[in-house]
Amino acid sequence: MSKTPLLTEIDHIAIAVHNLDEAVSFYEEAFGATVAHREIVERDGVEEALLKVADSYIQLTAATRPDSPIAKFLDKRGPGLHHVGYRVDSCEQALKSMVAAGATPIDAAPRPGSRNTTVAFIHPKGAFGTLIELVEE
Ligand code: CO
Repeated sequence: MSKTPLLTEIDHIAIAVHNLDEAVSFYEEAFGATVAHREIVERDGVEEALLKVADSYIQLTAATRPDSPIAKFLDKRGPGLHHVGYRVDSCEQALKSMVAAGATPIDAAPRPGSRNTTVAFIHPKGAFGTLIELVEE
């Protein structure tokens, strides 16, 4: 079955860290990377630092409160790869297509993300163990 391709770019890979400044310093020292964008997203309880790589980002993510999903992830598993952001032209269309393909949405409908994007998360169960974030710029 041939379908219209919906993915336009790997938007970001998100890495959960305990200390954002420490992680940023490491990436600066190791790769000469610079922070293109830094933002606190209150509703998700996270602070993100985005390092631009070509047209994608490495997103270092720390918790801003102990009950946020990132804090729970860090408690349970420690720092590490948290999710992959797939860039799409239409978050709504990609979400519908994923659900039609059998994926389980975390967000029932697209919602605001960081960088003024529109996003929706898909549960790792039903997506080969990968927490997927659909990102519409
Ligand atoms: Co993300």
